[in-house]
Amino acid sequence: MNNANRRGFIKGMTTLSMLAAAKCGSAMMPSEQRAYDKYNAMVIPRPDGLLDGEPVLQAPAPDSMGIAFAVTALSNGFVELADNPELKNPQTFMAEGMPLAAIDKRVIRVRLTGLKPGKRYWYRAGAAKLVHPVGYWTKPSETVWSKTHSFVTPGENAPSHFAMMCDTHEEFTQMSRITSLYRKLGVPLVVWNGDIPTSLMNTKDDIVKNYLIPPKNDGYAADTAILLNRGNHDFRGFAANRLGEVMMPRLPSERTMRDIALDRNFAFRMGDVALIGLDTGEDKPDNHPANGGFTQFTPYRRAQTEWLKDQFKRPEIANAPYIVAFTHIPLIELWPGANPGTTLEDYAVWQKECADMWGPILTANGVQLVLAGHIHRYRYDAATPTRSWAEITGGGRGTRTFQTLVECKVEGSELLVRVHNTDTGAIAGEHRFAPRKG
Ligand SMILES: [Fe+2]
Ligand SMILES: [Fe+2]
Repeated sequence: MNNANRRGFIKGMTTLSMLAAAKCGSAMMPSEQRAYDKYNAMVIPRPDGLLDGEPVLQAPAPDSMGIAFAVTALSNGFVELADNPELKNPQTFMAEGMPLAAIDKRVIRVRLTGLKPGKRYWYRAGAAKLVHPVGYWTKPSETVWSKTHSFVTPGENAPSHFAMMCDTHEEFTQMSRITSLYRKLGVPLVVWNGDIPTSLMNTKDDIVKNYLIPPKNDGYAADTAILLNRGNHDFRGFAANRLGEVMMPRLPSERTMRDIALDRNFAFRMGDVALIGLDTGEDKPDNHPANGGFTQFTPYRRAQTEWLKDQFKRPEIANAPYIVAFTHIPLIELWPGANPGTTLEDYAVWQKECADMWGPILTANGVQLVLAGHIHRYRYDAATPTRSWAEITGGGRGTRTFQTLVECKVEGSELLVRVHNTDTGAIAGEHRFAPRKG
């Protein structure tokens, strides 16, 4: 809802009150008058506790930003957005959906559009509880607002700074060390590179708990935009295909009709670095019994291959000094005979189908780095004479090794990749990349 529409709605409410106060001189039927009276007489107590946690910034793009937040009752939701921390002259956006806003009793999703690239904005998210005094006639409560937060949109003029976390797997204490660190470092954008749940997502509430309100991590994405790139565990459970009701897909305007199903892939600039998101899918082939005959990961990977080729035709990607691609499952065979994800035994250690389809395209375009997860272990594999890109895998849940935050930042004339051991606070490794030739 823009400001003009909002004013129109408020004007309508005022007119309604006047009509009820006048109670005469109108052509209303008595039954309609009673409905108006009942509507106006209903007092809705301020719904404290309506917001369940701080908002989560997501699906960032140079000209848009998604914001989702959890609520405890049927609500409409809003975001007020401004170019100043005092939120003076805000622009108001309503829960997405037209003609009907996506009101919901658990999750509100608001999409901010028409934004400028590389710009800092301030916002607050709010919800109004909806009640029905008369039949379907709907009355909103006073709006309850979050704290004021801020974000920076991506773009060629944005900071050349971002990070990757992965395989958090519901270990919320370990995760809190990662999310605290990137907030302390002032990282504006974090790729959450898959395997967020461990248990199955059989209900929408399972998804809400994992992605929107992870315990001990309140506000983890209120001032840092999250780019979700799914891992194999993100596809499991009978509600996994409802993820979009909680974590917003990318806008259709970001891709062509051919690629309309590819609503999670991303390619945009953060300053001097182009980020490209690729989805490796499940860690077992489509004909594995676990998949029940209803998955299409091989065609999905093939479709992404065509999408990937086209990204390098975009000037802002082709001209980027640095390109970093993200996959959940690694693209390099980590040891001889490591499971390639194409057999019915065990599960993928690396993803051969994706490596065969995407690897040569990444090399042909001089991509310097692939950031992956899945193996729960920090590992660095350097580029080779026939492969332009190095691969770094991040650490994950558990005690075998350590959790990581992989921070990427352009410093001087290099892309510096700093691997933080978030269990101890130490720096586990540093890697430097020169700009692409071209
Ligand atoms: Fe994992
Ligand atoms: Fe995984």
